[in-house]
Amino acid sequence: QKGGYKHFMLKEIFEQPRVVADCLAGRLDATHQRVCLEELAGMPVPKRLHVLACGTSYHAGLWGMHLFEDWARIPVSVEIASEFRYRNVLLDEDDAVLIISQSGETADSLACLQLVKSMGVPVIGLCNVVGSSIARESDRVVYTQAGPEISVASTKAMCSQLTLLTLMALHWGQEKGTLREADRIACIEALRQLPALLDDHLPAMREKARELSRLYADARSFLFLGRGHCCPLALEGALKLKEISYIHAEGYAAGEMKHGPIALIDPHFPTFALALDDALFPKVKSNLQEVQARNGEIIALTNEGMDLQVEHPWIIPRVWGPLGAFMALPALQLFAYETADYLGKDVDQPRNLAKSVTVE
Ligand code: F6R
Repeated sequence: QKGGYKHFMLKEIFEQPRVVADCLAGRLDATHQRVCLEELAGMPVPKRLHVLACGTSYHAGLWGMHLFEDWARIPVSVEIASEFRYRNVLLDEDDAVLIISQSGETADSLACLQLVKSMGVPVIGLCNVVGSSIARESDRVVYTQAGPEISVASTKAMCSQLTLLTLMALHWGQEKGTLREADRIACIEALRQLPALLDDHLPAMREKARELSRLYADARSFLFLGRGHCCPLALEGALKLKEISYIHAEGYAAGEMKHGPIALIDPHFPTFALALDDALFPKVKSNLQEVQARNGEIIALTNEGMDLQVEHPWIIPRVWGPLGAFMALPALQLFAYETADYLGKDVDQPRNLAKSVTVE
């Protein structure tokens, strides 16, 4: 069942090229370089979008926010389902709610769905499990088609969520005419190339993750930093590491460092940074210099040719725009995986966790 892999988590990480390809199948119109998302056909573009989810799915939503805002100019809020449901929220009928849930059974996410439906607001479910409660009760369902995810720690499901969020943002950007044609074409082309690119690079990424995990497996704490669309990935990298290796990890917006967390930095508190080639690179670089000034060691996911001096640069392939996430995500997953495996933890069944959280 594990297809020769030691753990389901590893198998699922290596399934990601196939997952992206499956999510794209039938959803790209090759001749016109457009996205065809049947699931949203005929639905008006929401005036505002509220994204609700938990855990890894929440991180996917935070990443998607940047795309909806940039390409479709839709104001977006992203919130943890267990918080949203107890607020006295203000929603309009021309808003829409997007619930992201791999299992489709997460109690707080389902409760949000029922709450917003009772307020007359349309709900889109982004789910992996076909026929799950959230899929059944949503007005529209977009399936992520990642196949069953067995490992408790979510990996390929997030990859599929990022793919579908990209397609949704392209779809609404097309509908509204707010997305530049050149960007749409470049994005679709980059999406098409992703499966092969991932396939080519995953084995080397695993090797690098293994090497770094040996150096840092005795760390008591880790800081994950990123900015802009890499900030949600920093949160996800920290979540993956803590949930399977039990090493304390905090994900933080790099620009927030000087507002408190920098007090923690010392030679025994390593930082894992996302420093990809994007508009915020100079800002991230200067945040990392502040870490170095306090003798903090740094692993940084970055791209070839970037002017960055850190202990452990981890070069990953450059991908167009925000799609760099598709390369950074497996690196983060593999780092957590290799660390947990090296420490002898039960990777697929971490203590105290269940695959689907059906109690609040
Ligand atoms: C982390 C993880 C959890 C889930 C969360 C939401 O690796 O798996 O944080 O992402 O419990 O689950 P779904 O997406 O099923 O609603």
